[in-house]
Amino acid sequence: MRIGVPREIKDQEFRVGLTPASVREVVDQGHEVVVETGAGAGIGAADSAYTGAGARIAANADEVFAAAEMIVKVKEPQPVERKRLRKGQVLFTYLHLAPDPEQTRDLIASGATCIAYETITSPGGGLPLLAPMSEVAGRMAVQAGAHCLEKTQGGMGILLGGVPGVPPAKIVILGAGVVGTNAAHIAVGSGAQVAILDRSIDRLRRIDEIFGARVITVYSNRENVEKQVLAADLVIGAVLVAGAAAPRLVSRDMVKRMKPGSVLVDVAIDQGGCFETSRATTHDDPVFEVDGIVHYCVANMPGAVPVTSTKALTNVTLPYVEAIADKGFARAIGEDPALAKGVNTLGGTITYEAIAEAHGMTYTPLADVAAVG
Ligand SMILES: NC(=O)c1ccc[n+]([C@@H]2O[C@H](COP(=O)([O-])OP(=O)(O)OC[C@H]3O[C@@H](n4cnc5c(N)ncnc54)[C@H](O)[C@@H]3O)[C@@H](O)[C@H]2O)c1
Repeated sequence: MRIGVPREIKDQEFRVGLTPASVREVVDQGHEVVVETGAGAGIGAADSAYTGAGARIAANADEVFAAAEMIVKVKEPQPVERKRLRKGQVLFTYLHLAPDPEQTRDLIASGATCIAYETITSPGGGLPLLAPMSEVAGRMAVQAGAHCLEKTQGGMGILLGGVPGVPPAKIVILGAGVVGTNAAHIAVGSGAQVAILDRSIDRLRRIDEIFGARVITVYSNRENVEKQVLAADLVIGAVLVAGAAAPRLVSRDMVKRMKPGSVLVDVAIDQGGCFETSRATTHDDPVFEVDGIVHYCVANMPGAVPVTSTKALTNVTLPYVEAIADKGFARAIGEDPALAKGVNTLGGTITYEAIAEAHGMTYTPLADVAAVG
Protein backbone atom coordinates (compact mmCIF):
# COMPACT_ATOMS: atom_id res chain seq x y z
CA MET A 1 0.00 0.00 0.00
CA ARG A 2 1.15 3.57 -0.61
CA ILE A 3 1.03 5.60 2.60
CA GLY A 4 1.18 9.41 2.67
CA VAL A 5 2.40 11.61 5.53
CA PRO A 6 1.65 15.32 5.00
CA ARG A 7 3.14 18.12 7.09
CA GLU A 8 0.70 19.19 9.84
CA ILE A 9 -0.67 22.67 9.08
CA LYS A 10 -2.85 23.36 12.13
CA ASP A 11 -1.53 26.29 14.18
CA GLN A 12 0.98 25.26 16.87
CA GLU A 13 1.03 21.61 15.80
CA PHE A 14 4.58 20.21 15.65
CA ARG A 15 3.85 16.47 15.73
CA VAL A 16 3.90 14.25 12.64
CA GLY A 17 1.93 11.14 11.63
CA LEU A 18 4.90 8.76 11.29
CA THR A 19 8.46 8.98 12.64
CA PRO A 20 11.40 7.81 10.49
CA ALA A 21 11.55 4.68 12.70
CA SER A 22 7.89 3.85 11.96
CA VAL A 23 8.44 4.52 8.24
CA ARG A 24 11.27 1.98 8.32
CA GLU A 25 8.89 -0.64 9.80
CA VAL A 26 6.26 -0.28 7.08
CA VAL A 27 8.80 0.00 4.26
CA ASP A 28 10.41 -3.24 5.50
CA GLN A 29 6.99 -4.88 5.12
CA GLY A 30 6.96 -3.94 1.45
CA HIS A 31 4.87 -0.75 1.56
CA GLU A 32 5.68 2.64 0.03
CA VAL A 33 5.72 5.85 2.08
CA VAL A 34 5.53 9.38 0.66
CA VAL A 35 6.40 12.15 3.13
CA GLU A 36 5.88 15.86 2.50
CA THR A 37 9.10 17.85 2.68
CA GLY A 38 9.57 19.35 6.16
CA ALA A 39 6.91 17.11 7.76
CA GLY A 40 9.32 15.99 10.50
CA ALA A 41 10.88 19.40 11.20
CA GLY A 42 8.91 19.89 14.44
CA ILE A 43 10.43 16.74 15.94
CA GLY A 44 13.91 17.36 14.54
CA ALA A 45 13.56 14.70 11.80
CA ALA A 46 15.03 16.01 8.54
CA ASP A 47 13.87 14.82 5.10
CA SER A 48 17.13 12.85 4.94
CA ALA A 49 16.06 10.81 8.00
CA TYR A 50 12.89 9.81 6.15
CA THR A 51 14.69 8.97 2.90
CA GLY A 52 17.19 6.99 4.99
CA ALA A 53 14.24 4.99 6.33
CA GLY A 54 13.05 4.28 2.80
CA ALA A 55 10.47 7.05 2.20
CA ARG A 56 10.14 9.25 -0.86
CA ILE A 57 9.93 13.01 -0.22
CA ALA A 58 7.15 14.94 -1.96
CA ALA A 59 7.46 18.67 -2.67
CA ASN A 60 3.99 19.53 -1.36
CA ALA A 61 0.81 18.21 0.24
CA ASP A 62 -1.06 17.96 -3.09
CA GLU A 63 1.48 15.39 -4.23
CA VAL A 64 1.17 13.38 -0.98
CA PHE A 65 -2.64 13.27 -1.07
CA ALA A 66 -2.69 12.42 -4.80
CA ALA A 67 -0.20 9.56 -4.40
CA ALA A 68 -1.45 7.94 -1.18
CA GLU A 69 -4.04 5.21 -0.66
CA MET A 70 -3.85 5.94 3.09
CA ILE A 71 -3.04 9.29 4.73
CA VAL A 72 -1.59 9.13 8.25
CA LYS A 73 -1.79 12.39 10.21
CA VAL A 74 -2.09 13.75 13.75
CA LYS A 75 -4.70 16.53 13.72
CA GLU A 76 -8.10 16.67 12.04
CA PRO A 77 -7.79 17.67 8.36
CA GLN A 78 -8.07 21.42 7.82
CA PRO A 79 -10.49 22.71 5.11
CA VAL A 80 -7.76 22.83 2.44
CA GLU A 81 -6.75 19.24 3.28
CA ARG A 82 -10.37 18.02 3.22
CA LYS A 83 -10.66 19.16 -0.40
CA ARG A 84 -7.79 16.83 -1.31
CA LEU A 85 -9.44 13.67 0.05
CA ARG A 86 -11.13 11.31 -2.38
CA LYS A 87 -13.53 8.38 -2.38
CA GLY A 88 -11.96 5.16 -1.14
CA GLN A 89 -8.88 6.87 0.32
CA VAL A 90 -8.23 6.00 3.97
CA LEU A 91 -7.59 8.86 6.42
CA PHE A 92 -6.15 7.81 9.78
CA THR A 93 -5.86 10.63 12.35
CA TYR A 94 -7.51 12.38 15.34
CA LEU A 95 -10.84 13.76 14.05
CA HIS A 96 -13.04 14.88 17.01
CA LEU A 97 -16.10 15.14 14.74
CA ALA A 98 -18.83 15.42 17.38
CA PRO A 99 -18.40 19.18 17.97
CA ASP A 100 -17.44 19.91 14.33
CA PRO A 101 -20.37 19.77 11.85
CA GLU A 102 -18.44 21.53 9.09
CA GLN A 103 -15.66 18.95 9.09
CA THR A 104 -18.20 16.13 9.33
CA ARG A 105 -20.01 17.39 6.22
CA ASP A 106 -16.75 17.75 4.29
CA LEU A 107 -15.59 14.24 5.18
CA ILE A 108 -18.93 12.76 4.14
CA ALA A 109 -18.77 14.70 0.86
CA SER A 110 -15.24 13.42 0.19
CA GLY A 111 -16.37 9.79 0.26
CA ALA A 112 -13.13 8.96 2.06
CA THR A 113 -12.78 6.26 4.71
CA CYS A 114 -12.05 8.31 7.83
CA ILE A 115 -10.77 6.48 10.91
CA ALA A 116 -10.54 8.52 14.12
CA TYR A 117 -7.78 7.65 16.59
CA GLU A 118 -9.97 8.75 19.47
CA THR A 119 -12.84 6.32 18.83
CA ILE A 120 -10.73 3.16 18.46
CA THR A 121 -12.02 1.25 21.47
CA SER A 122 -10.53 -1.84 23.06
CA PRO A 123 -12.86 -4.65 24.24
CA GLY A 124 -12.68 -3.39 27.86
CA GLY A 125 -13.85 0.07 26.74
CA GLY A 126 -10.39 1.70 26.91
CA LEU A 127 -9.24 4.22 24.33
CA PRO A 128 -5.72 3.04 23.45
CA LEU A 129 -4.94 5.91 21.07
CA LEU A 130 -5.86 8.58 23.64
CA ALA A 131 -3.94 7.05 26.54
CA PRO A 132 -0.42 8.11 25.43
CA MET A 133 -1.46 11.77 25.26
CA SER A 134 -2.97 11.49 28.75
CA GLU A 135 0.32 9.99 29.93
CA VAL A 136 2.22 12.94 28.47
CA ALA A 137 -0.21 15.52 29.90
CA GLY A 138 -0.19 13.89 33.35
CA ARG A 139 3.58 13.88 33.55
CA MET A 140 3.77 17.45 32.22
CA ALA A 141 1.20 18.73 34.71
CA VAL A 142 3.59 18.48 37.66
CA GLN A 143 6.40 20.12 35.69
CA ALA A 144 4.09 22.97 34.60
CA GLY A 145 2.80 23.36 38.15
CA ALA A 146 6.32 23.44 39.60
CA HIS A 147 7.22 26.27 37.22
CA CYS A 148 4.06 28.22 38.10
CA LEU A 149 4.85 27.93 41.82
CA GLU A 150 7.97 30.04 41.28
CA LYS A 151 7.62 33.61 42.57
CA THR A 152 8.44 35.22 39.22
CA GLN A 153 5.60 33.23 37.61
CA GLY A 154 3.05 34.52 40.14
CA GLY A 155 3.32 31.53 42.45
CA MET A 156 3.96 31.50 46.19
CA GLY A 157 7.67 30.71 45.72
CA ILE A 158 7.88 27.15 46.97
CA LEU A 159 10.04 24.26 45.77
CA LEU A 160 8.10 21.01 45.30
CA GLY A 161 10.62 18.81 47.08
CA GLY A 162 11.63 21.28 49.80
CA VAL A 163 15.18 20.77 51.11
CA PRO A 164 16.50 19.08 54.26
CA GLY A 165 14.95 20.99 57.14
CA VAL A 166 12.22 22.59 54.97
CA PRO A 167 9.00 20.69 54.27
CA PRO A 168 8.03 19.88 50.67
CA ALA A 169 4.97 21.22 48.85
CA LYS A 170 1.59 19.47 48.95
CA ILE A 171 0.25 18.29 45.59
CA VAL A 172 -3.40 17.24 45.31
CA ILE A 173 -4.48 15.31 42.21
CA LEU A 174 -8.20 15.12 41.37
CA GLY A 175 -8.83 11.93 39.36
CA ALA A 176 -6.77 8.73 39.47
CA GLY A 177 -7.09 7.72 35.81
CA VAL A 178 -4.33 7.83 33.20
CA VAL A 179 -3.54 11.54 33.68
CA GLY A 180 -3.74 11.32 37.48
CA THR A 181 -1.59 8.20 37.79
CA ASN A 182 1.10 9.68 35.55
CA ALA A 183 1.00 12.95 37.46
CA ALA A 184 1.43 10.94 40.67
CA HIS A 185 4.59 9.29 39.27
CA ILE A 186 6.28 12.65 38.70
CA ALA A 187 4.84 14.17 41.89
CA VAL A 188 6.31 11.35 43.98
CA GLY A 189 9.64 11.70 42.17
CA SER A 190 9.71 15.41 42.98
CA GLY A 191 9.67 14.68 46.69
CA ALA A 192 6.37 16.49 47.31
CA GLN A 193 3.62 15.22 49.61
CA VAL A 194 0.99 13.73 47.32
CA ALA A 195 -2.74 13.07 47.76
CA ILE A 196 -5.01 11.72 45.01
CA LEU A 197 -8.82 11.66 44.96
CA ASP A 198 -11.23 9.58 42.89
CA ARG A 199 -14.77 8.24 43.12
CA SER A 200 -13.61 4.85 41.91
CA ILE A 201 -12.32 2.69 44.75
CA ASP A 202 -10.76 0.36 42.19
CA ARG A 203 -8.66 3.23 40.82
CA LEU A 204 -7.61 4.22 44.35
CA ARG A 205 -6.72 0.59 45.11
CA ARG A 206 -4.45 0.57 42.08
CA ILE A 207 -2.76 3.76 43.21
CA ASP A 208 -2.26 2.22 46.65
CA GLU A 209 -0.69 -0.88 45.09
CA ILE A 210 1.66 1.18 42.91
CA PHE A 211 2.78 3.87 45.33
CA GLY A 212 2.12 2.45 48.80
CA ALA A 213 2.61 5.01 51.56
CA ARG A 214 4.11 7.62 49.17
CA VAL A 215 0.64 8.67 47.99
CA ILE A 216 -2.40 9.26 50.20
CA THR A 217 -5.60 8.05 48.54
CA VAL A 218 -8.83 9.90 49.39
CA TYR A 219 -12.41 9.19 48.30
CA SER A 220 -13.74 12.11 46.26
CA ASN A 221 -16.73 13.77 47.93
CA ARG A 222 -17.44 17.46 48.51
CA GLU A 223 -15.97 17.54 51.99
CA ASN A 224 -12.77 15.69 51.11
CA VAL A 225 -12.21 17.73 47.95
CA GLU A 226 -12.57 20.96 49.92
CA LYS A 227 -10.26 19.83 52.72
CA GLN A 228 -7.54 18.69 50.32
CA VAL A 229 -7.76 21.64 47.93
CA LEU A 230 -7.59 24.23 50.72
CA ALA A 231 -4.44 22.58 52.11
CA ALA A 232 -2.73 22.25 48.70
CA ASP A 233 0.07 24.24 47.11
CA LEU A 234 -0.58 22.66 43.70
CA VAL A 235 -3.86 21.08 42.53
CA ILE A 236 -4.01 19.03 39.33
CA GLY A 237 -7.43 18.55 37.71
CA ALA A 238 -7.52 15.15 35.97
CA VAL A 239 -11.14 13.99 36.16
CA LEU A 240 -13.21 12.62 33.31
CA VAL A 241 -16.78 11.42 33.03
CA ALA A 242 -16.90 9.71 29.63
CA GLY A 243 -19.03 11.55 27.09
CA ALA A 244 -19.81 14.45 29.46
CA ALA A 245 -18.38 17.81 30.48
CA ALA A 246 -15.85 17.58 33.32
CA PRO A 247 -17.52 17.77 36.76
CA ARG A 248 -16.85 21.14 38.43
CA LEU A 249 -15.24 19.92 41.64
CA VAL A 250 -13.79 23.23 42.78
CA SER A 251 -16.08 26.26 43.05
CA ARG A 252 -15.04 29.88 42.72
CA ASP A 253 -15.64 30.32 46.45
CA MET A 254 -13.23 27.46 47.19
CA VAL A 255 -10.60 29.03 44.88
CA LYS A 256 -10.94 32.29 46.84
CA ARG A 257 -10.16 30.44 50.07
CA MET A 258 -7.04 28.65 48.74
CA LYS A 259 -3.55 29.67 49.91
CA PRO A 260 -2.44 32.83 48.06
CA GLY A 261 0.01 31.99 45.27
CA SER A 262 -1.05 28.35 45.02
CA VAL A 263 -1.46 26.83 41.57
CA LEU A 264 -4.23 25.03 39.68
CA VAL A 265 -3.30 22.96 36.61
CA ASP A 266 -6.55 22.00 34.87
CA VAL A 267 -5.67 19.14 32.53
CA ALA A 268 -9.40 18.41 32.11
CA ILE A 269 -9.84 21.80 30.43
CA ASP A 270 -10.40 20.07 27.08
CA GLN A 271 -13.69 18.81 28.56
CA GLY A 272 -14.56 22.21 30.05
CA GLY A 273 -12.33 22.00 33.14
CA CYS A 274 -12.95 20.94 36.73
CA PHE A 275 -12.39 24.33 38.39
CA GLU A 276 -15.18 26.92 38.09
CA THR A 277 -12.58 29.62 37.38
CA SER A 278 -10.87 27.76 34.48
CA ARG A 279 -10.79 28.91 30.88
CA ALA A 280 -8.75 27.36 28.09
CA THR A 281 -5.32 28.85 27.38
CA THR A 282 -2.55 28.20 24.83
CA HIS A 283 1.19 27.51 25.08
CA ASP A 284 1.80 31.11 23.93
CA ASP A 285 0.00 32.49 26.97
CA PRO A 286 -0.58 29.54 29.30
CA VAL A 287 -1.46 31.10 32.68
CA PHE A 288 -3.80 33.62 34.26
CA GLU A 289 -4.65 34.56 37.83
CA VAL A 290 -7.98 34.56 39.63
CA ASP A 291 -8.17 35.76 43.25
CA GLY A 292 -4.39 35.37 43.62
CA ILE A 293 -4.40 31.74 42.42
CA VAL A 294 -2.35 30.88 39.32
CA HIS A 295 -4.28 28.89 36.69
CA TYR A 296 -2.56 26.82 33.96
CA CYS A 297 -5.24 25.57 31.54
CA VAL A 298 -3.58 24.60 28.26
CA ALA A 299 -5.94 22.48 26.20
CA ASN A 300 -3.24 20.69 24.15
CA MET A 301 -0.44 20.14 26.64
CA PRO A 302 1.30 17.35 24.62
CA GLY A 303 1.86 19.87 21.81
CA ALA A 304 4.69 21.43 23.84
CA VAL A 305 6.73 18.22 23.76
CA PRO A 306 6.23 17.02 20.15
CA VAL A 307 9.24 14.71 20.14
CA THR A 308 7.99 12.64 23.08
CA SER A 309 4.35 12.96 22.00
CA THR A 310 4.98 11.86 18.41
CA LYS A 311 6.96 8.82 19.52
CA ALA A 312 4.30 7.90 22.11
CA LEU A 313 1.53 8.33 19.54
CA THR A 314 3.20 6.40 16.72
CA ASN A 315 4.04 3.55 19.11
CA VAL A 316 0.29 2.92 19.39
CA THR A 317 -0.85 3.90 15.88
CA LEU A 318 1.77 1.87 14.01
CA PRO A 319 0.20 -1.58 14.58
CA TYR A 320 -3.07 -0.29 13.05
CA VAL A 321 -1.24 1.35 10.12
CA GLU A 322 0.53 -1.96 9.50
CA ALA A 323 -2.70 -3.96 9.74
CA ILE A 324 -4.52 -1.72 7.25
CA ALA A 325 -1.53 -1.68 4.88
CA ASP A 326 -0.94 -5.44 5.06
CA LYS A 327 -4.53 -6.69 4.93
CA GLY A 328 -6.39 -3.87 3.23
CA PHE A 329 -9.08 -1.83 5.00
CA ALA A 330 -12.00 -4.27 4.76
CA ARG A 331 -10.11 -7.28 6.15
CA ALA A 332 -8.34 -5.20 8.80
CA ILE A 333 -11.62 -3.93 10.29
CA GLY A 334 -13.28 -7.31 9.84
CA GLU A 335 -10.62 -8.94 11.99
CA ASP A 336 -10.32 -6.18 14.60
CA PRO A 337 -13.47 -4.82 16.29
CA ALA A 338 -11.36 -2.17 18.08
CA LEU A 339 -10.24 -0.72 14.75
CA ALA A 340 -13.78 -1.01 13.33
CA LYS A 341 -14.94 1.30 16.16
CA GLY A 342 -12.56 3.91 14.78
CA VAL A 343 -14.37 4.20 11.45
CA ASN A 344 -16.33 7.48 11.56
CA THR A 345 -17.22 7.96 7.89
CA LEU A 346 -17.16 5.58 4.94
CA GLY A 347 -18.21 6.06 1.34
CA GLY A 348 -20.27 9.18 2.08
CA THR A 349 -22.02 7.85 5.20
CA ILE A 350 -21.55 8.32 8.96
CA THR A 351 -20.70 4.98 10.52
CA TYR A 352 -20.32 6.12 14.14
CA GLU A 353 -23.65 6.46 15.91
CA ALA A 354 -22.77 9.16 18.46
CA ILE A 355 -21.45 11.45 15.73
CA ALA A 356 -24.54 11.02 13.57
CA GLU A 357 -26.66 11.76 16.66
CA ALA A 358 -24.62 14.84 17.56
CA HIS A 359 -25.38 16.37 14.16
CA GLY A 360 -28.89 15.00 13.61
CA MET A 361 -27.60 13.08 10.59
CA THR A 362 -28.27 9.56 9.40
CA TYR A 363 -26.28 6.75 10.97
CA THR A 364 -25.36 3.80 8.78
CA PRO A 365 -23.92 0.75 10.57
CA LEU A 366 -20.52 -0.17 9.18
CA ALA A 367 -21.70 -3.62 8.14
CA ASP A 368 -24.44 -2.07 5.97
CA VAL A 369 -22.07 0.01 3.88
CA ALA A 370 -21.66 -1.80 0.59
CA ALA A 371 -17.96 -0.94 0.29
CA VAL A 372 -17.14 -3.19 3.22
CA GLY A 373 -18.63 -6.15 1.42
N1 LIG B 1 -5.13 19.33 28.44
C1 LIG B 1 -4.58 18.36 27.73
O1 LIG B 1 -3.67 18.59 26.95
C2 LIG B 1 -5.05 16.95 27.89
C3 LIG B 1 -4.30 15.88 27.38
C4 LIG B 1 -4.74 14.57 27.62
C5 LIG B 1 -5.93 14.36 28.32
N2 LIG B 1 -6.64 15.43 28.78
C6 LIG B 1 -7.88 15.29 29.56
O2 LIG B 1 -7.60 14.89 30.89
C7 LIG B 1 -8.78 14.33 31.46
C8 LIG B 1 -8.46 13.02 32.16
O3 LIG B 1 -8.08 12.06 31.20
P1 LIG B 1 -7.70 10.55 31.60
O4 LIG B 1 -7.15 9.93 30.39
O5 LIG B 1 -6.90 10.54 32.84
O6 LIG B 1 -9.15 9.95 31.91
P2 LIG B 1 -9.46 8.62 32.75
O7 LIG B 1 -10.82 8.18 32.35
O8 LIG B 1 -8.33 7.67 32.65
O9 LIG B 1 -9.49 9.14 34.28
C9 LIG B 1 -10.46 10.03 34.76
C10 LIG B 1 -10.68 9.71 36.22
O10 LIG B 1 -11.57 10.72 36.77
C11 LIG B 1 -12.33 10.07 37.77
N3 LIG B 1 -13.47 10.88 38.19
C12 LIG B 1 -14.65 11.09 37.56
N4 LIG B 1 -15.43 11.89 38.33
C13 LIG B 1 -14.72 12.19 39.45
C14 LIG B 1 -14.97 12.98 40.59
N5 LIG B 1 -16.14 13.60 40.77
N6 LIG B 1 -14.00 13.06 41.54
C15 LIG B 1 -12.81 12.44 41.38
N7 LIG B 1 -12.51 11.67 40.31
C16 LIG B 1 -13.45 11.56 39.36
C17 LIG B 1 -12.71 8.73 37.13
O11 LIG B 1 -13.14 7.78 38.09
C18 LIG B 1 -11.37 8.35 36.47
O12 LIG B 1 -10.57 7.56 37.33
C19 LIG B 1 -9.75 14.18 30.28
O13 LIG B 1 -10.65 15.25 30.28
C20 LIG B 1 -8.85 14.24 29.08
O14 LIG B 1 -9.53 14.65 27.91
C21 LIG B 1 -6.22 16.71 28.56
